[in-house]
Amino acid sequence: MKGLIISGGKGTRLYPLTYTRAKQLIPVANKPVLYRVIEALKDAGIEEIGVVVGHTAAEIQSALGDGSNWGVRFTFIQQKQPEGLAQTVQISRDFLGDDPFVMFLGDNVLQGGITGLVHDFRRNEANAQLVLKEVSNPSAFGVVALDERGQVQRLVEKPADPPSNLALVGIYLFDATIHAAVNGLRPSARGEYEITDAIQQLIDGGGDVRAHIHPGWWIDTGKPLDLLEANSLVLDELLPTIAESAIIQRSQLDSRVTVEAGAVIEDCVIRGPSIIGREATLRHCYVGPFTSIYHDVRVEHCEIERSIILEHSQLENLPQRLADSLIGRYAHLQPSGEMPRALKMNLGDFSTIWVGATR
Ligand code: TTP
Repeated sequence: MKGLIISGGKGTRLYPLTYTRAKQLIPVANKPVLYRVIEALKDAGIEEIGVVVGHTAAEIQSALGDGSNWGVRFTFIQQKQPEGLAQTVQISRDFLGDDPFVMFLGDNVLQGGITGLVHDFRRNEANAQLVLKEVSNPSAFGVVALDERGQVQRLVEKPADPPSNLALVGIYLFDATIHAAVNGLRPSARGEYEITDAIQQLIDGGGDVRAHIHPGWWIDTGKPLDLLEANSLVLDELLPTIAESAIIQRSQLDSRVTVEAGAVIEDCVIRGPSIIGREATLRHCYVGPFTSIYHDVRVEHCEIERSIILEHSQLENLPQRLADSLIGRYAHLQPSGEMPRALKMNLGDFSTIWVGATR
């Protein structure tokens, strides 16, 4: 069994962060989502992994290397334009050969991994197995209708009138019959080669397409709020550790706080679940639950909760608590001592800020 990680795309919904970084490399609980996907494949015994890359190819290849860090082997497959998930399967044919494979979107996080799923697929010998999740807003997803035996009957992309509340999670298991289906496709109304159309062809041709309804949580980290939610869920499951080289003085840390190597924490109160990254410096801070502070960040005289602060950013003397926020790399947040007393900012394209509470 091989793995196929889909790690190209545009990432427009995560602008401005994704102007300068591949969205799959944004960390959740201080580890890039893509690394979590690789770990899930490796845990399921999959070591031969194709990685479909787009315009961020160089960054992804340099972050992943040859796979030896994880004990796997990577083959990078270049997609010229992000023209749909079925196209990513088409261009991966040489790598996949006739082997069965797991296709895993590189920006998805799934509770509990995929080991059981891979085991079921191997035992059932179906043509495809789809991972589904019950959702409250099915119209926002690819939706699946099942027959009375639980087999997949019909798939519809973002239906106005959804036939069920079962959404397609970004994880699919296929055997070699999918290749004929992806080759016969035409672009959809939104101009993409849709994997849902290919799967529908499999079904219409009498293929055995099964469903697995995932009981745990699943997050597609496509939007800022999804990233914060994924961060909270992963932090909640993190086994806390304090690195030996961390320096912690005159501070209160509760039992669910993780501190990574070389971090310096002085005169702080830190409530978990939260994580303080490598070589980060925190002085006179309150850090509340569900916060991830990445490596080399400096925070002084601030209160922060339920936020993600990316590497090398600096936050000082903020007049209000920062909450529900996503701060990129090398960002600088500080009060202005100069007249006029006003909000002053250098804000990147497509940024959003919410200033203070309205009365
Ligand atoms: P999406 O989140 O649907 O697309 P996107 O990354 O372009 O984001 P946005 O809508 O914000 O512009 O894609 C899901 C995953 O699949 C993501 O990891 C990107 C990847 N992908 C490709 O690599 N190639 C493709 O052709 C498509 C459609 C997606």
